[in-house]
Amino acid sequence: MVLRATDAKERVLVCHTDLRSPKVQGLRSNAAVAWLFYDQERKTQLRVKGRVDVHHDDEVARMRWSKSTENSRQCYHVAKSPGTVTEDPVMGPPLEQGFENFAVVKCRVDSIDWLYLQHEGHMRARFEWQGDRWKSTWLAP
Ligand SMILES: Cc1cc2nc3c(=O)[nH]c(=O)nc-3n(C[C@H](O)[C@H](O)[C@H](O)COP(=O)(O)O)c2cc1C
Repeated sequence: MVLRATDAKERVLVCHTDLRSPKVQGLRSNAAVAWLFYDQERKTQLRVKGRVDVHHDDEVARMRWSKSTENSRQCYHVAKSPGTVTEDPVMGPPLEQGFENFAVVKCRVDSIDWLYLQHEGHMRARFEWQGDRWKSTWLAP
């Protein structure tokens, strides 16, 4: 998934997906998610937990759609639902509509597990949102 937007103050991560994708059903039945990021140059892993809302055909979706490039929009004009078993791996003619298949996954972050790898000894910390502030503690890596 491509991370499309962040809002540090609101603790929000945003990505886009196809409404027809099986993961949307999964997210709607269980909103608890974990994200895994690894930055090779910074030697840093983040495990981020939170809860998501799936936005479709609403103000959030319209705003994100209006900001997306023509190139990104092409993904949502594909006729077959993601994951459909098919004899033909080449996608057929694009659908007229695309926005109808477009969904925004917005996650409110509750906790972050930070791991920094280094030869002298790894470092690890946990950050948990506690109502109005982050509570942080070191952890043994
Ligand atoms: C570079 C790259 C970027 C991707 N970006 C997205 C994305 O932004 N949204 C998305 O739904 N899938 C994205 N995918 C595809 C997903 O990894 C995944 O294969 C797809 O969503 C199907 O998942 P599902 O059938 O389990 O729902 C991307 C894949 C790659 C390799």
